[in-house]
Amino acid sequence: TMTASIAGFTFEDILLNAAGVYCQTTEELDQILTAPGAGSLVTKSATPAERAGNPGVRYADMPLGSINSMGLPNLSLDYYLDYAIAHQDEKPLFLSIAGLTKADNLQMLHEIQDSDFNGLVELNLSCPNVPGKPQTGYDFDTTRQILEETFAFFKKPLGVKLPPYFDIAHFDMIAAVLNDFPLAFVNTINSIGNGLMVDPETDTAMIAPKGGFGGLGGAIAKPTALANVRGLRQRLNAGIKVIGTGGVQNGRDVYDLVLCGADLVSVGTTLHQEGPEVFNRLKAELAEQMKLKGYDDVNQFRSALQTL
Ligand code: DHB
Repeated sequence: TMTASIAGFTFEDILLNAAGVYCQTTEELDQILTAPGAGSLVTKSATPAERAGNPGVRYADMPLGSINSMGLPNLSLDYYLDYAIAHQDEKPLFLSIAGLTKADNLQMLHEIQDSDFNGLVELNLSCPNVPGKPQTGYDFDTTRQILEETFAFFKKPLGVKLPPYFDIAHFDMIAAVLNDFPLAFVNTINSIGNGLMVDPETDTAMIAPKGGFGGLGGAIAKPTALANVRGLRQRLNAGIKVIGTGGVQNGRDVYDLVLCGADLVSVGTTLHQEGPEVFNRLKAELAEQMKLKGYDDVNQFRSALQTL
């Protein structure tokens, strides 16, 4: 079997979209919701009001993955909250929110708390693409402050989407903050923030916003994703589940994230490239990888990475 459970919800498949990819409109969300092999979906990170996002070319594929600076285009919390409430009996769903300020996040969390939504909330602390707004997850004190104010009133299952960390001391520091709260999950990693890619034909940056700086995803992100999944799984309370995101192109990539501790696995760049058929391909390839190793249940090798 390939099921997982978070906060009392059972997921019939461990794969879902990564927030932001293929989840902005009802049409896209419906396709993820009904895609064979997808066990859940997460809605595009919402702000209180609709946003157009950054102007110009804002997503590009590159040899080792993708670069994007979308700038949080979304149809508003109300739009995604309505969608999630309408479909929450079909699969357990994640509602993603990414306020540009703490006040916006708390306002949205109050609205969700007071609504009929009964799924999971992913509080995005790691959007790298809004000019002038640093990634909250790199500020440990502010992260603690937001979680303190949130859990003072928020009683529904909540997790956080984290930026990648690159130092063992930072794994220790973020885990120490997160372990002080009744989080249902962490999702790691968001894109590797503020990379830069050049088009060699024209000597120009590949994307327009922010002078070409944008978040990196895809194959290039895999080792960083594995390290963050593993590093956090080793440090977090057992009750905090891990959603692994970053660098999934094939079934072995899914397997590796589970081996490092992921309960669910989400797919961004490759979903953008292939569309929702990707989930069934990855599910079949994961089953093949498991069979090669003599496993028939993801629980048999989750967190079972061996070290030399
Ligand atoms: C956007 C990008 C992110 O990585 C994120 O977490 C939220 C929003 C964006 O540019 O739209």
